[in-house]
Amino acid sequence: MRKDFVEIDSTQSESEIAFVERYWTAVWEREGGPKAAINKIPGKAEYRIMQPYIESLSPGARLLDGGCGLGDWSAYLTRKGYPTLGLDISRSTVAKLKELFPDVEFAVGDIRETGLPADSFDGYFSWGTFEHFEEGLERCVAEAWRILKPGGYLFISVPFDNFRHALRATFDRRRKVDPRSGKERFYQWRLTRPEVRGLLARGGFSVLDIRPIHKRQGVLRSLHHEFGFPYEWLATKGLGIVLTPFIPGGLVAHMLMAVAKKPLPQPVERGDGI
Ligand SMILES: C[S@@+](CC[C@H](N)C(=O)[O-])C[C@H]1O[C@@H](n2cnc3c(N)ncnc32)[C@H](O)[C@@H]1O
Repeated sequence: MRKDFVEIDSTQSESEIAFVERYWTAVWEREGGPKAAINKIPGKAEYRIMQPYIESLSPGARLLDGGCGLGDWSAYLTRKGYPTLGLDISRSTVAKLKELFPDVEFAVGDIRETGLPADSFDGYFSWGTFEHFEEGLERCVAEAWRILKPGGYLFISVPFDNFRHALRATFDRRRKVDPRSGKERFYQWRLTRPEVRGLLARGGFSVLDIRPIHKRQGVLRSLHHEFGFPYEWLATKGLGIVLTPFIPGGLVAHMLMAVAKKPLPQPVERGDGI
C-alpha cells in the first residue's frame, strides 16, 4: 500500500472532522448540490457494476452508504426501493442531508465503529472512504463484515496504486515537501488489486470482482501531473476523451472497485456414526 499526502498550510492544521466538513461544503457548492448529483448515478461505473447484485436482492433489501458525503446515492437507492442508511462522520453534512432529503435515513457515525446491529444490512457500499485512515483499512472491513447479513454484499472503491503511480514513485525524486516536515498530512492509502483482494479475504469475505474504474479521471491526472496540462483547459478535456479508450486501465485508472460477499455459514458436517 502506498501513502498519499496532501500539503497543508496554517489554516489546515484543523481536526480530521473539520477538514472533511470544509472539503465537502466546497464539493457541494462546486457540483450544484446533492439534488443535481442524483441524476448522474445511473451512468456511473460503480452503479453499473453493483446494479446486478443489488437487483438480485429481495425488494426492500436494506443498504448502508458508508461515508455518504453528498447523500445522492442514499437518496437514489432509497427511492429505487432499497431503503439506504447514509452514514457520515460529518455532523453538518448529515444535518444538511436530513433537511434536503426528509424521505431518506441519515445518521452521524464512524464507519470503523458504527454502533449498528450485527447482521443487519443486505448490502453495504462505500465509495472513496475506507482509505482515509492512516491506521489502515482493516477496521472498516471488520465492521462491514459484522453489520452485513450472511450472504450480504460489500462494494467499495479505493484509490488505485496503478502502474503510473508505481513509475512515479520509482523515478520521481523531485518531491517538493518532506512528509516529516509538518507541511503535509496523510491523505489516503492507494492499493493494488492483490492488496484489495488480500484485505477483503483476510476480513472473511469471498471476493467476487475487482476492477479499475474512473480511467478518464486518471488520464486527466496524468496529463496534468506529467505533462503540465491545466485541468480547466478544453484541450485537456478533449485529449482525455480521445486518449482514454487507448490506454489500459491498469496503467492510469484512478480507482479500484471491489465486490465481495459475506459467506453464508457452512452447514455442519455430520459424522458417519451420528
Ligand atoms: C471522499 S468522501 C466520499 C463521499 C461519497 N461516498 C462519494 O463518493 O461522493 C469521504 C466521505 O467520508 C466521510 N468520512 C470520513 N471519515 C469517516 C468516518 N470515519 N466514518 C464515516 N464517514 C467518514 C467524509 O465526511 C466524506 O463525506
